[in-house]
Amino acid sequence: MEIRASERLTSLESYPFAMMDERVRKMREKGVDVIDFGVGSPKLGVPEAVREAFKRGVEEFKNCGYPTYEGMVEFRKAAAEYLRRRFGVVVEPESEVMSCAGTKELLFHLPEAFLNPGEYALVTTPGFAPSWRGVLFAEGRYYLLPINEENGYLPDIEAVPSDVLRRAKYIAVNYPNNPTGRVAPEDFYKKLLKFARQNNLFVVSDEAYIELYFGKNRPVSMLSLAKEGVISFFSLSKQSMMANYRIGFAAGDSRIIGALKKLKSNIDSGVANPIQYAATVALSDDKMMEKTRQYWKELIGIVVEALSKSGLDARMPEGTFYIWQKTPQGEDGISFAFRMLEECGIGVMPGEWLCAPSDKSGKNFVRIAVNEPREVVLEAAKRISSTKW
Ligand SMILES: Cc1ncc(COP(=O)(O)O)c(C=O)c1O
Repeated sequence: MEIRASERLTSLESYPFAMMDERVRKMREKGVDVIDFGVGSPKLGVPEAVREAFKRGVEEFKNCGYPTYEGMVEFRKAAAEYLRRRFGVVVEPESEVMSCAGTKELLFHLPEAFLNPGEYALVTTPGFAPSWRGVLFAEGRYYLLPINEENGYLPDIEAVPSDVLRRAKYIAVNYPNNPTGRVAPEDFYKKLLKFARQNNLFVVSDEAYIELYFGKNRPVSMLSLAKEGVISFFSLSKQSMMANYRIGFAAGDSRIIGALKKLKSNIDSGVANPIQYAATVALSDDKMMEKTRQYWKELIGIVVEALSKSGLDARMPEGTFYIWQKTPQGEDGISFAFRMLEECGIGVMPGEWLCAPSDKSGKNFVRIAVNEPREVVLEAAKRISSTKW
């Protein structure tokens, strides 16, 4: 019997990552202690208060069945209180907030709730692949908005053709941006909102990195400009180092939240209570987030300095924990990533692999994810600064 995966699934390119994995495996076989700055998976240590809350949660909820689809009331209240305190956003926990098992799943599923076959989502590239791959799985279409050095990593929304706009349902953006590290100025959000309203689109604002900023000013949340026609996603994975726990939340227009809740009740059974319990503690602790931010700022600074010493034009990102590094002398990002692996024993992500199909915005870049604790970062810095590219 032949078992064939769907064309949708088989059409997804996974081979470049396999190619990198194969090279990493060979280097490790040769005894090289490879440092993996490729994947955006933070391993800096889950804060003690979060771990303790999780343990308490396991005991407290020892007689529980399935969790609720949309999240415990306490968690949603903590999320609403967090948005009020940090961003001046007022949302109603019952109807305007819902939990998710990490924002990845909700970003991927969102198109299923809104797109009919042939309808468009406008999405930026390079970026987080589920935001365009989810569109494919929903049998919708995506229209790509490249973000690059020329446009200051802010999409040129005016350039979207009118026939696409007529069939478009929403526009999705992500700031602070993975992979470019750009933080969106408030003026851009204002322009985006106006454009969305004029064209009857809703806005999907992926704010998974909103607490990882390194300038003086805290990034604004899209929700602080408007709730109507806006949904924002928040993740505990980076700001509270809870990537392994799988929890985040969405907040915004109750009609969008309502449709997503209905969809989710068909997909999974909600986030485990002890995880929500731990996340409730994390969301309430501004000092813990500040400590994480400062720690990360220091680590990223160490890598940026080492890159500069090695002769590269390296810059501190405005936000996120990614360094969007331009390759030397216009070298192809894939070739540069392989050189970094072979010459420094450091795995990084070629920019092109973070682009949607047909987009080449990341061709001469690599993304360096500063995702390891201090001692590993110091070792990486030593290796980088003693290399001349
Ligand atoms: C831009 C962006 N959004 C969302 C996510 C998903 O994060 P999580 O599912 O852990 O909440 C990621 C993860 O890397 C990301 O880079």
